[in-house]
Amino acid sequence: MSGIMRIGRLELRVLDLEESIHYYTNVIGLEETGRDKDRIYLKAWDEYDHHSIILQKSDRAGMDHMGFKVADVYALEKLEKKIEAFGCTLTRITDRTRLAEGQAVRFEIPTGHSMELYTEIEQVGTSTGTFNPHPWPDGLRGIAPHRLDHTLLTGDDLETVTRFFKEVLGFHQTEKIVTVDGETMVGSFLSATNKAHDLAFVKGPDNKFHHAGFFVDNWYEVLKAADILSKNKVQVEVTPTRHGITRGQTVYFFDPSGNRNEAFASGYLSYADFPTITWTEDKIGTGIFYHRREMIESFSKALT
Ligand SMILES: [Fe+2]
Repeated sequence: MSGIMRIGRLELRVLDLEESIHYYTNVIGLEETGRDKDRIYLKAWDEYDHHSIILQKSDRAGMDHMGFKVADVYALEKLEKKIEAFGCTLTRITDRTRLAEGQAVRFEIPTGHSMELYTEIEQVGTSTGTFNPHPWPDGLRGIAPHRLDHTLLTGDDLETVTRFFKEVLGFHQTEKIVTVDGETMVGSFLSATNKAHDLAFVKGPDNKFHHAGFFVDNWYEVLKAADILSKNKVQVEVTPTRHGITRGQTVYFFDPSGNRNEAFASGYLSYADFPTITWTEDKIGTGIFYHRREMIESFSKALT
């Protein structure tokens, strides 16, 4: 095991901070846990750490970085050596650069996205607590997902970035999409845990953000998420349906800056020894939208 425990955080660039705070707290239903000069920090109700989403005011939308939490400093040191051996340059983010965070290492992956690994972040806990807890807290707003679940990014060379996550960071590939001749990978679904994916890539321009998925319990919660989106006049791109890939249930929509979000439920459990499931590009429509069985244009075009 590499020591990477899970997806920890996602820092998103947003255009209008106030509008974004309203959306992420009242529509998505995250809780604001802090703010500093440039950033707002948010967590989902079932997350223990201080934040999983950071909103950074910017003049362009997209992802600043994605962070993974590592078990301890010994595992992190080993990972740092492997990342440098792969040819990536590491920079160090000092303690408290952002609210409640310890130091982190930052590096650019082969698709040009910035990633961080870290061990320390303040734990603020949940309102249900860890002692004889109730199953959910009072006062939830909006979609109220349990957690940030996964991120999908685009990039050109998916073979290399997949090799990086497997060989250097110890992820396993749960599913892939290949061209019909089998020569080129055009989709790659990667897990550091036993979730169906923690991070995925589809072929497209380097260093672009496709979506952030937030976990809800089940199909009814996906339907309810769509109700909440419509009630709040949020732009819904794909109404509730099923993914072939991951078998998850989904609704896709956009935040006020055009960053795509997803409410995602279910999906199978995966283990590191499971074989990788393969989809061919001619079946990509079925893989992504199992009922409709065809791609929609905006889904591959709208990136931030
Ligand atoms: Fe997703």
